[in-house]
Amino acid sequence: MAGVADQQREVAAAFDAQADGYDEKWTRSVSGRLQREQVWREVDRFFLPGHKILDLGCGTGVDAVRLARVGARVLAIDISPQMVRMTRRRVESENLSEGVTCELLPLEELGDLKNRGSFDGAISDFGVLNCVENLRQVARDLAALLRPGAHLALCYMGRFCLWETAWFLLHGKPGKAFRRLGARSFPASRAFEVFYPSVRAIVEAFSGNFRLVSWRGVGIFVPPSYVEPLAHSFQGGFRRLARFDHIAGGWAILRAVGDHRLLVFVRN
Ligand SMILES: C[S@@+](CC[C@H](N)C(=O)[O-])C[C@H]1O[C@@H](n2cnc3c(N)ncnc32)[C@H](O)[C@@H]1O
Repeated sequence: MAGVADQQREVAAAFDAQADGYDEKWTRSVSGRLQREQVWREVDRFFLPGHKILDLGCGTGVDAVRLARVGARVLAIDISPQMVRMTRRRVESENLSEGVTCELLPLEELGDLKNRGSFDGAISDFGVLNCVENLRQVARDLAALLRPGAHLALCYMGRFCLWETAWFLLHGKPGKAFRRLGARSFPASRAFEVFYPSVRAIVEAFSGNFRLVSWRGVGIFVPPSYVEPLAHSFQGGFRRLARFDHIAGGWAILRAVGDHRLLVFVRN
């Protein structure tokens, strides 16, 4: 088990190393685009023009820029200096510097934002929470930052992904096929721990100040991005899969077998 400081250092180093290739590997991949569209379809219902939104673990700033384009003011934070650099670059190139501020800050230190006024919403998209062990502390800090009625969207890797298990079993890699099943794992390819909290564990962590209003699977039929070679052969097919995700994303059982889960909370 890594200490918090070790974990943070390793996470930052790993995402620093990935920052330059992140958009190519995930953001612009067919799966990445289709999965992100699913998240946007949900959050567009409650993140509104004029809202002040926190983007937690902003990566290369795709969500922050999208939110700013529709009129929100965004404070984007990330633990990786290179990811912060990428977000700033994207914001500048889109002429959205008035709409997005980006800062180097780990989720474990959200308390440092307490003098920045209250926020109308927050989003943590695509696996940020899988890098953080103490979700109770994150929940407490967010409770102090979000106004009553604010929405919080948490999209993170689920514990079981049907595509992943099938894909790696077919490729003779049983270790990878079931890597998410434990609550935490220390993958051979990574120097940091990856956490796979259950929905119940997240709801418990946030229960004092937030209530869960919905949860759905993201990337149930649309596969993870490492299945990308198939996507290039069957682009139209992947679009159809995304439509199934849209229809069935909230269904019991199915929602628990996707690549990601999207939980939406409201601040009490
Ligand atoms: C898979 S990327 C997702 C990025 C972005 N949210 C997106 O939608 O593309 C995960 C991001 O979380 C950041 N991250 C991981 N642990 C973090 C922490 N403890 N505090 C802040 N950011 C963190 C990483 O640096 C990385 O940029």
